[in-house]
Amino acid sequence: MGRYLEFIGLNKTYDTPSGPAVIVDGFDLALSRGEFVTLIGHSGCGKSTVLSMAAGLNDITDGSVVAGGKEIDGPGPDRGVVFQAPCLLPWLSAFENVMLGVKKVYAHGTDRERGDIVEHYLSLVGLGDAMSKLPAELSGGMQQRVGIARAFALAPKVLLLDEPFGMLDSLTRIELQDLLLDVWERHKITTLMVTHDVDEALYLSDRVTMMTNGPAARVGDIVDVPFERPRDREALLETDDYYRHREQLIAFLEGQELARGAFEDAA
Ligand SMILES: Nc1ncnc2c1ncn2[C@@H]1O[C@H](COP(=O)(O)OP(=O)(O)OP(=O)(O)O)[C@@H](O)[C@H]1O
Ligand SMILES: [Mg+2]
Repeated sequence: MGRYLEFIGLNKTYDTPSGPAVIVDGFDLALSRGEFVTLIGHSGCGKSTVLSMAAGLNDITDGSVVAGGKEIDGPGPDRGVVFQAPCLLPWLSAFENVMLGVKKVYAHGTDRERGDIVEHYLSLVGLGDAMSKLPAELSGGMQQRVGIARAFALAPKVLLLDEPFGMLDSLTRIELQDLLLDVWERHKITTLMVTHDVDEALYLSDRVTMMTNGPAARVGDIVDVPFERPRDREALLETDDYYRHREQLIAFLEGQELARGAFEDAA
């Protein structure tokens, strides 16, 4: 399988009052078509910075991001994005929020066709009965479901998720992880997802990319997740293999913590 989403020598340098701050430097990563890759690393290392550059919402200082053979230079409907906060327009219903993007992407379709698409994806995320509700009438978990439906309804080539379940309680989080896996299994959209949670990373992804601590963060290591799909959470938690992989991720993160301590001692 070829490279479908590729980060090549990516650099992000922010201008700050105390001078340029090199946050990400030499970030290289390639995802195959249909692959689900997670990105983990300590808070502040630059995960959102990398993702927002791929989304076209943050200027690239140096290097490039290529999606589906095209170099990114701005946001586009070929990339669906879901953030930690749902970002729905409060005066529009769930249906209308999803329709907003669908109208742009399926500009040549009929109203009926567009309506069917919106209904299909809202039903898929379990909101078939709540389509006419306003965001304020929906729980946080339901709002995030709308966000997921909105991203998938655009039939993007690439899905970019930045801690989409970070603000949810653990039960809702588990429910939405299963939902995301289910929808992803059907569509096999190339996905890059930022998460803090090693268990989430192992449950969802084909590979876990671990970022070094900033400044000048890059890919430190990549772990293959060989667990068979479709995955069964309970069964997985009973295997030694699961804990071996979990240990590997935690050891990397702890190593980064030690390196940061040494860096700060030296500074
Ligand atoms: N617009 C900006 N201007 C200056 N510095 C910024 C800007 N945006 C982010 N940074 C800095 O870049 C670094 C990386 O931020 P980023 O949000 O990418 O981290 P993150 O890995 O997503 O963290 P978290 O896990 O907490 O979400 C941080 O030190 C942050 O302060
Ligand atoms: Mg972030």
